Amino acid sequence: MAEQIALKDVSLQFTAKPHAFTVLEDISLSLQKGEFVVLLGPSGCGKSTILNLVAGFLQPDTGRVLCGGKIIQKPGPARGMIFQQPNLFPWLSVLDNVTFGPRLGRHRKEDVNAEAMDWLARVGLQGFEHHAPWQLSGGMKQRVALARAWLPGPEVLLLDEPFGALDAQTRLMMQELLRSAWLETDTTLLFVTHDVEEALFLADRILVMSAKPGKIVEEIVSPFGRERDIETLAEHPQYSEIKHHVLHRVRQEAKRHLNTL
Ligand SMILES: Nc1ncnc2c1ncn2[C@@H]1O[C@H](COP(=O)(O)OP(=O)(O)O)[C@@H](O)[C@H]1O
Ligand SMILES: [Mg+2]
Repeated sequence: MAEQIALKDVSLQFTAKPHAFTVLEDISLSLQKGEFVVLLGPSGCGKSTILNLVAGFLQPDTGRVLCGGKIIQKPGPARGMIFQQPNLFPWLSVLDNVTFGPRLGRHRKEDVNAEAMDWLARVGLQGFEHHAPWQLSGGMKQRVALARAWLPGPEVLLLDEPFGALDAQTRLMMQELLRSAWLETDTTLLFVTHDVEEALFLADRILVMSAKPGKIVEEIVSPFGRERDIETLAEHPQYSEIKHHVLHRVRQEAKRHLNTL
C-alpha cells in the first residue's frame, strides 16, 4: 500500500500571550491510501489542529506534513474537509451547492451535474436536488456537505466531528452512510471524534490522543472487518473488551487534561 498522508515529528505551539502553549508535541502518524483512520481524544487535545495541518491551513513549527510524499504548503482540492456545520449557501439549491466548487474551477454546469446527481443518490438525496437548504433536516444538510466534498474526487477527506450536532438516530444513519460511501471509493479518510462508539464502528484504525501537549498515546487496529453492521457490531466477541479499554483510556486522558487546565 502507498502512503497517502504522513506527519513526521510534528510540533506546534500557539504563541498568543498570555496563553502560549505547545498544542502538539512530536506527533508522527501515517495513513495508507484508502484507509479509514479515526483520531479520538478529549476535547481540546489538538484533533482539529492536526486536521488543519493536513488541510494546509496551518504549518508546523518543526517536523513535516506530507500528502503523497510532498510537503503540504497550502489548502488544495486533493484534501477535502467536512465540519460539524454543513455551511451550505442558503440561496442555492442542493444541486447548486454541491456543484459550486467545480463551477468555480470553471467546469461547465452540464459536465458536473450528472456526477453530482450520482453523489446525491449515493447519500440518499435523490429527488431533493432542487430543494433549498432550509427545506432539509440537519442530517440531510450534512449529506449535501458529504456529496459536495466527495464530488471533486479528493484523495483525502478530513472530517471534523461531522455528526456531532445530529441526534442519536440520525448520527447512526450517517455513520452507516459514510462507511458505505467510503467502501465504494479509494478515498483516504481522517475522521475526528471524541465519541468512542462512533470511532469503533467507523475506523480501520483508531489513534487515541492525549492533551496538553497533544500526543498520540495508543493505536488500535480494528478487528471488525470491512463489512460491518451497526446493529450486530456489539455482538462481536472482542467488542466489549475493546470498548471498555478505549473508554478507560479516553477518560484517563480527559481527567488528566482537566487537572492541567
Ligand atoms: N489559533 C489558536 N490559537 C491559540 N490556541 C488555540 C488555537 N486553536 C486552538 N487552540 C487551542 O489549542 C488546543 C487544541 O485545540 P483543537 O485542536 O481545536 O482541539 P480539539 O479539536 O481536540 O478539541 C485547545 O486548547 C484550543 O483552545
Ligand atoms: Mg475540534
